Amino acid sequence: MPKPLTTNTLFYGDNLPILREYLNDESIDLIYLDPPFNSNRDYNVLFKEESGLESTAQIQAFKDTWDWDKATQATFEDLRLTAPIPVQKLIQTFYDLLGPNQMTAYLVMMTTRLLELHRVLKPTGSLYLHCDPTASHYLKIIMDTIFGVANFRSEITWKRANAHNDPKRYGHIADILLYYGKTANVVWNPQYTPYRDEYYRSHFKKDSQGRFYRTMPLDAPRHGEGSPTLIYEWKGKLPAKTRTWAISKEKMAEYEQQGLLRYTKYGTPTLIKYADEMPGVPLQNIWTDLPPINPVAKERLGYPTQKPLALLERIIQASSNAGDWILDPFCGCGTAIVAAQKFNRNWVGIDNNYLTSTLQKNRLWDTFQILSQRDYLVKGDLILAEESMV
Ligand SMILES: C[S@@+](CC[C@H](N)C(=O)[O-])C[C@H]1O[C@@H](n2cnc3c(N)ncnc32)[C@H](O)[C@@H]1O
Repeated sequence: MPKPLTTNTLFYGDNLPILREYLNDESIDLIYLDPPFNSNRDYNVLFKEESGLESTAQIQAFKDTWDWDKATQATFEDLRLTAPIPVQKLIQTFYDLLGPNQMTAYLVMMTTRLLELHRVLKPTGSLYLHCDPTASHYLKIIMDTIFGVANFRSEITWKRANAHNDPKRYGHIADILLYYGKTANVVWNPQYTPYRDEYYRSHFKKDSQGRFYRTMPLDAPRHGEGSPTLIYEWKGKLPAKTRTWAISKEKMAEYEQQGLLRYTKYGTPTLIKYADEMPGVPLQNIWTDLPPINPVAKERLGYPTQKPLALLERIIQASSNAGDWILDPFCGCGTAIVAAQKFNRNWVGIDNNYLTSTLQKNRLWDTFQILSQRDYLVKGDLILAEESMV
């Protein structure tokens, strides 16, 4: 059993052995992973000149191509022998269905890691798997098998671009986030989006001070005899026979005193709710309000596939609390760990590309003035590779 992590840590190296060697069972509250999608592309980092302009110098950051090689075959055999029986059956089915090709290699790579991620998640923990339609349908079956169908919580569609010119088909502008809980009892902090202008116009009125408000009924269905404390005369009016008041007489008097009651033409009290005191619209599973990072955005670091900070902020706020442990096992230029640090969560980031190390460290310094080995740990094989380059 590894020693429990007590300090925020960046690991460099393949996440599979790192998860096995350093992360305890049930030690993480929230996992966000944004693995390569099997897009069959190579991603390069564009470096900035001192002038701030992008240079033509590029280094390959990572390949998003998977081959059925000896290592994949070995992982496949291992899964067939040691994974839980439903996972053994599933991976064999993929192999039979698709053959030993790139997609199956990708699914083998993901299955073995998702098993480890499931192991390290606490019973109240959540996992968000960021992917796209290339493999999201297969990944969802894998997630259902490992986490259990009952622990599927949402499939989120994130609009990541405004338009895409995909010849002879609809433009692909959305990514998918598969959101699962380890159990039904997960950390959940509801998130809200502001009301849209049309919503204000259709659902609210303006008062004399220009504040938007709407009124809510203050009666409720009567069950059986109804609670005696909710059946009383208010300003000479009783609730209808099939209904009670929704609040006690004391509360009604309190609202009256605060000037929050408005009466219908029949004299029935209703409660005034001001829009600026309401949380907004509960967040739905289609996210169109988080724009992609534009080419001149301040947060843009030039790392391919960098995700907007606002996306990670939302996920971290919804599914964790201060002091919780956040893990991003494919952390790229460190978007998830920056969001975690911002909201006082503990964090672990893993990437197998040494190019990410400088980016992550600089980003943590520029944003929070925190230093590697002083404020957080840096571990892993690739440190040596990086140091030998200096
Ligand atoms: C899509 S990018 C993640 C981008 C990240 N969300 C961000 O905002 O910067 C995927 C990352 O996974 C890393 N990666 C790929 N295979 C890995 C593995 N086996 N172990 C650890 N990292 C891996 C790549 O180097 C790349 O940085």
